[in-house]
Amino acid sequence: MTWRRNSRHEVVIAALFTIGLLMFALVPGAESRQGPAQANKKGETLYLTACSSCHGADGRGAPQYHVGFDLPLPDFTDCSFSSREPDADWVAVAHQGGPVRGFSKLMPAFGKALSFEDLELIVAYIRSFCGNPDWPPGELNLPRSLATEKAYPEDEAVYSLAIDVEGQGAVTNKIVYEKRFGARNQFELTIPFGWEEQDGSGSEETPAGNWVGGLGDVALGVKRAFFHNARTGTIFSATGEIVVPTGDREKGFGKGTTVFEPFVSFGQILPSEFFFQSQAGFELPVDTDRAGREAFWRFSLGRTFTSGQFGRSWSPICEFLGARELESEEYVQWDVVPQIQVTLNQRQHIMANVGVRLPLTDSDVRDTQLLFYLLWDWFDGGFFSGW
Ligand code: HEC
Repeated sequence: MTWRRNSRHEVVIAALFTIGLLMFALVPGAESRQGPAQANKKGETLYLTACSSCHGADGRGAPQYHVGFDLPLPDFTDCSFSSREPDADWVAVAHQGGPVRGFSKLMPAFGKALSFEDLELIVAYIRSFCGNPDWPPGELNLPRSLATEKAYPEDEAVYSLAIDVEGQGAVTNKIVYEKRFGARNQFELTIPFGWEEQDGSGSEETPAGNWVGGLGDVALGVKRAFFHNARTGTIFSATGEIVVPTGDREKGFGKGTTVFEPFVSFGQILPSEFFFQSQAGFELPVDTDRAGREAFWRFSLGRTFTSGQFGRSWSPICEFLGARELESEEYVQWDVVPQIQVTLNQRQHIMANVGVRLPLTDSDVRDTQLLFYLLWDWFDGGFFSGW
């Protein structure tokens, strides 16, 4: 009976997965960033006329005595800075002026003087200042789902919260710190901590309804984006993570053994502002008496909506999470996580996501969870800048 119920879920999910892959196969080639040489020649001419007085003919920023203000100008030749900004954001800044993305008014608006097409050509020309294709472009930095890990290497700090809304109470917090190094790599540190309601007998030593707090198992990881293609909108990366048993297993925080977690992640831009992301990997504990070996896979499909032409981004996402213990006969466990991500400030580097994790299998013993994160793309500025 349970088996039949679960197998039906698996069919639905396998079908959705196939549709996702099909959409990927059908994606038309997006326009190349580097337009035809002639178009880029026009971009260069326009840049030299409209932008170089401040940004410099070489893209590094004209000297202070020349521009007459001391606000530092961006260095467009610095790939680490310039590769991560999507074209659309730069076109928005050039069209509307700096304040549209929480930058200074010293960056003027060109929307009245230059057409969208001209600004796109200029931005394409600015792209050539970096000229190193190893750096994955910012377009491939898709909105972060609540569970599926992104393929894009990021400089981010994320605070996430999971609250069990039925059964025994549990509140899990996580602080994730991500730091890029080189063109394609990222280091990652995860610190979980939380509170759990104890399932006591009601006696004095183990009272029911008593909450205990503690640190969970800290994780360290390294990610590398092995492949990306700006034209097809595809990015693929692999991550190796070590989860160290820093948590108190007795109290229910942590597994009590070191766990290795290798996984791959994949991101794909789809037509009409849709995007698809997936992640698959293993949890391999050193001591299998303490924790079971597990395979897991996750995928998410979403779409970004923009308020007005340059405003806030809203990304509703539907995520499916699957996991299966490797030793036991246990069948696959599935969850579905509807959620919505929203950018909070003008700069769009502070975002929040809220969703619900609903168990599709074993819902009698596994709890529904309310999930939330607050994300700070710290490379783009301080937490309080750009509002
Ligand atoms: C009058 C000087 C001036 C001119 C002319 C100018 N800019 Fe700027 N621009 C700035 C300043 C100053 C900043 C930095 C703003 C800040 O950091 O708050 C800036 C920042 C930018 C950024 C920054 C984006 C980021 O993500 O940090 C882009 C893109 C940009 N300018 C594009 C252009 C383009 C395209 C043109 C020509 C069409 C242009 N600018 C012309 C002064 C200028």
